Amino acid sequence: MITPNILFGQDDRKARMAFIGLGGRGRWHLNLCLQRDDVDVKAICDINPEAIKRTNSMLDKAGYKNVPAYTDGEEAFLKMYEQGDIDGVIIATPWVWHTKMACAAMRAGIYAGVEVSAANTLEECWDLVNTFEETGVPCMILENVNYRRDVMAVLNMVRQGLFGELIHMECGYQHNLRNIKFDPGVEFGPGANSEAQWRTQHSISRNGDVYPTHGLGPVSSMLDINYGNRFLYLTSTASKARGLHDYIVKTAGEDHPNAKVKFKLGDVITTVIKTSNDETITVQHDTNLPRPYSLGFRVQGTEGLWMDINNSIHLDGKSPEHAWEPADSYLEKYDHPLWKKFASEAEGGGHGGMDFFVDHAFVESIKRKVNTPLDAYDAAAWSSIAPLSEMSIAHGSEPIDIPDFTRGMWMKRKQKFALNDEY
Ligand SMILES: NC(=O)c1ccc[n+]([C@@H]2O[C@H](COP(=O)([O-])OP(=O)(O)OC[C@H]3O[C@@H](n4cnc5c(N)ncnc54)[C@H](O)[C@@H]3O)[C@@H](O)[C@H]2O)c1
Repeated sequence: MITPNILFGQDDRKARMAFIGLGGRGRWHLNLCLQRDDVDVKAICDINPEAIKRTNSMLDKAGYKNVPAYTDGEEAFLKMYEQGDIDGVIIATPWVWHTKMACAAMRAGIYAGVEVSAANTLEECWDLVNTFEETGVPCMILENVNYRRDVMAVLNMVRQGLFGELIHMECGYQHNLRNIKFDPGVEFGPGANSEAQWRTQHSISRNGDVYPTHGLGPVSSMLDINYGNRFLYLTSTASKARGLHDYIVKTAGEDHPNAKVKFKLGDVITTVIKTSNDETITVQHDTNLPRPYSLGFRVQGTEGLWMDINNSIHLDGKSPEHAWEPADSYLEKYDHPLWKKFASEAEGGGHGGMDFFVDHAFVESIKRKVNTPLDAYDAAAWSSIAPLSEMSIAHGSEPIDIPDFTRGMWMKRKQKFALNDEY
C-alpha cells in the first residue's frame, strides 16, 4: 500500500495541489483554489501553450512565482507526479485521459480529483477501483451536481423521510451542446476550439449515454448506491441521430464537407437502471437538439415527489390533493447544513455555487488524510453506465448486468457523502 504524499508533508494545514488540463474547466478549478488560503499550487500541466500562458497570468496575479509547468507531450503529467511535493491533483482533460491520469496519480501517492465522467470503458472503471484498493490513495469523482443547492436540500428531505420509501428516480444530461461540439461555426477536431477538439468525436464513434454522472451522481447519493444498495442491470435505447447533421446543414449549408459526417450517437438516449433495493432510475442523454438546459430530476417515493423541471413538489397529506406546490419553501426549510454554513463562500463559485463545494470536499479530504466523500467506487459505478448503455444499445436494448465494483462490500459500507456541515 502506498502512503499518500501528504503524510510526509511539512505542513498538513495546506493541500499542495497540481492541475492537469487548464482549459476552461481546469482554470476554473484553479481559480476556486486560488481563493482558498489552505491550498498551495505546486505544479501545472497542459500541452497547449495558450492554456499555460493564461494559467501563468492567473498565478502571477495571485502572487505565485515560478510554479513548474509540465508541457512536454501528452504524458508530461507522469514527470509532474515525480515532483515529490504534491498531495492532490485536479484532472480536467479530455475524457480519454481521465482514468490514466487518475490511476498514475494514485500510484504516485497523490489524491486524484477527476472530472466527469471518470472512465469510458468497463476496464477503466475496474482500473480506478483496483488502483485505489492496491494503493489506498483516494480518487474523487468531481461531480459538482451532487452539491447543487436544490439537489442537496432534496437529499436532506430524502434522508428525513419526507418522500417516504423511494420508488423511482429520473435524471439526465439534457443540454444543447451544438455550439460546443462545433466551434467555430461547424468545425470540430484538431484546430477547432476547446471541447470541439475532442468531444464531438464521441458523437461520431459511440452510441450510448456518454455523459451520465451529472444526473446519476446526485440520484445515487439519494439512493445510497454502494452503501446498502447497488445498481443491478440496465437497458438502454437510442433514438435516431439527426440533430448534429441538421445543425451543420442549417449553419453552413449542405455542401459543407462536415455535412457528410455520419454521427452514431442517438439524439435522445434513454437508460433504465434497476437497483438491488428494487427502485428504478431513468437516465436521459440529450445533447444534439435545440432545447433549454435541464437535468430532469424527479425523486419519487411512497409519500410524494419532487421535480426540478417545474420546481415543484407534491407530498401526500401536505400538498393540495392532486396538485403541485412550488418547491421553494421546502428547499429553503431543508437547505442542507453545508449550504447554510458556506453559502457566502460559494457565491460566485461557478454553476450556482456548487463548484465551490466539490473542490472544498477534495481539499478538506486531503488535509484530513481521509477518503473522499465521493470515491473510486462511486466513480466506477456511475461512469460504467456509459459503456454499459453502449453495449445494451448495440444488442437491441438487451438488459446488461452492472458490475458490483465494491465486490460485495456495498452491503456493509456506510454512507459518507454530505453527512454534516463540514465538507
Ligand atoms: N463538472 C462540470 O460541470 C464540467 C464542466 C465543463 C467541463 N467538464 C469536464 O472537464 C474536462 C475538461 O473540459 P474543458 O471544457 O476544460 O475542455 P477543454 O478542451 O477546454 O480543455 C482541456 C484541456 O486539456 C488539455 N489536454 C489535453 N490532453 C492533455 C494531456 N495529455 N496532458 C495535459 N493536458 C492535456 C488541453 O490542451 C486543454 O487545455 C472534461 O472532462 C469535461 O467533461 C466538467
